Formats: sequence, structure tokens, C-alpha cells
Amino acid sequence: NWTMAAYRDKMIEKIRAQVGTGRVICGLSGGVDSSVAAVLIHEAIGNQLTCIYVDHGLMRLNETEQVVTMFRDQYNIPLVHVDASKKFLGELEGQVDPETKRKIIGRLFIEVFEEEAKKIGGADFLAQGTLYPDVIESVSFSGGPSVTIKSHHNVGGLPERMNMQLVEPLRELFKDEVRALGRELGIPESFIGRHPFPGPGLAIRCPGGITPEKLDILRQADAIYLDEIRKSGQYDQIWQAFAVLLPVQTVGVMGDGRTYEFVCALRAVTSVDGMTADFYQFDMNFLGKTATRIINEVRGINRVVYDVTSKPPGTIEWE
Ligand code: XMP
Repeated sequence: NWTMAAYRDKMIEKIRAQVGTGRVICGLSGGVDSSVAAVLIHEAIGNQLTCIYVDHGLMRLNETEQVVTMFRDQYNIPLVHVDASKKFLGELEGQVDPETKRKIIGRLFIEVFEEEAKKIGGADFLAQGTLYPDVIESVSFSGGPSVTIKSHHNVGGLPERMNMQLVEPLRELFKDEVRALGRELGIPESFIGRHPFPGPGLAIRCPGGITPEKLDILRQADAIYLDEIRKSGQYDQIWQAFAVLLPVQTVGVMGDGRTYEFVCALRAVTSVDGMTADFYQFDMNFLGKTATRIINEVRGINRVVYDVTSKPPGTIEWE
């Protein structure tokens, strides 16, 4: 793709011109955006870049290990891995409001990030994998007023506080273009093709209060769901797929006993940019098989439902 090759070269020149001999830190989230930004910037300025990965304890099964291994061992990009899960889960305890949860996570993320940046002696620039849709944060419905649906914590606030200039090489790009750029940079397809994952992670897939036990149940169900999707060859047709652990317990039967456990909702949507989305039309046999596996293999879930809401009027996430 000559367009992306040209874009990459242009951005590398631009980053070099902006940064000079300065030092850059980049918050790595494990997602495609910040990863592509980090690899591009590393290509431009090498070890003037340090990445900081703040582990908030809200990642999916084995996700943190995969990200840390890829960046440190495969790409040799200097990476600080901070396990701040106790701090995040502690402050989230008892919080049920979606925006409050996001605000707590956003604030703690900044606190932890700042602390770690100080420890490595600070930097002149802050790199972010901000995309064009992040820039136009508010969504306007036709005919209606422009309203902000959800606050996205990965935009704004941090650079002003830390007195750093921003490096945002993906600011003009949509998701599919970021993926094309990632391929151009030689990032493995298995990583590039990953579904987007929200900054607040599993916190917004656990409606209501979050506990380590609930997160553990959710992680297991989500991993089974994604495993089935991958095995059936549907992963690349889907924009995002994930499990949600509902704060509702229902009655079931297991053997000759009554169970009273949580409901798991499965979500999958197709989309071009996340702004609008259609629910994905799975085959019923696929859903039945996946539900059976989740109920049999995950203790704490005895019922599985599928979300058939498109966006609008629903949002992709449940919170
Ligand atoms: P919604 O749920 O608003 O999601 O339809 C649209 C896209 O944004 C992601 N999302 C977030 N990403 N911080 C993020 O970084 C957030 O607070 C957040 N909320 C939603 C969501 O996963 C989807 O890709």
C-alpha cells in the first residue's frame, strides 16, 4: 500500500523534526492504537522512547503478559510495566456509576503514569495513540444536539499537567488506516487484527460494582467466547466481541440441585469506526455451543444471553 508507506515515511520525518534529541514517553495500553504509535515512534527515534504500561488489573485473560513480552522481547522497546491493580481495584470498590468508574480509572491512570514518568527522570514529549474519532469525541445524532455519550479517558488532561508536548502520529487516521500502518510497520497480523479494547477495560463490562471474583468469572467467560469465535473463523468479520457479567443472579438447575448464579451477556458487533454498529448475526448453534461451554466451565455463571441491540440506539459497551 503505497499510501501508507508514504504516510509512514512522512510521519517518521515529522516525529524526528518535532522531537529532535528530546525524550518521549508513551502510555501503552495493549491496544492496536498505542502499539502502532509506539512502534512508529521507536522506528523514528529509537531509545529516546520509553513506554509505560500501567496494569490496572482490568485486562483480559493473559493479555498483560502478551503485551509486555511483545514489546520488551520482540521489539526491544524500553518498557516499564507497573502493576497498579491493587490501587485501581481498591478505589473502584463499591462504585457502581459508569462515569464515576471511568473518572476514577482516568485519574488513577494519570497519577500512576506521572509517578512512573518521574521515576525514569521525566520526558519532554508524551506520545499518544489518539485517532481521529477520539478527536471528535462527541457524537451528534441527525437533527439532534451534539452530546457526549461517554467520557473517554485516553484523551486530554495529562500533557498539560506534566508540562509536556504531545506526539500524536495517528491523529488523522481512522482505525482501518491505523491497522494498515501497523502492517506497513511489520507488526504481526494477529496483533493488528485485534478487536479494540476500551481504556477502562473490564470495569465497564462488569455493570455495577466490581470485585476481583467477578472479574475472574468475566475473564474466563470472555476467553471461552473469544476462543470459540476464533476457532469458528469469525473473528475478523467482527469489530468487537466480548462477554459482560451482569449484576443479576438467576435460578438454574445443575444435576439435582438448584443454582443461583450470575447471567453472562455476549456481545458482538460489526462496525467501520465504532460510531455506529450492527449486532453480529451468529448462527444459533454457535451461540448454543458457546453458552454450554461457558456454563459448564465457568463457576459462577448459570445463564447466557445474546445482545441483539445495534448502535444507535444502544452503545457497543454496556456502560
Ligand atoms: P460505545 O460503547 O460508546 O463504544 O459505543 C465505542 C467504542 O469506544 C470504546 N469505548 C471506550 N474506549 N475508553 C476507551 O478508551 C472508554 O471509556 C470507552 N468507552 C467505550 C468501545 O469499546 C468501542 O470500541
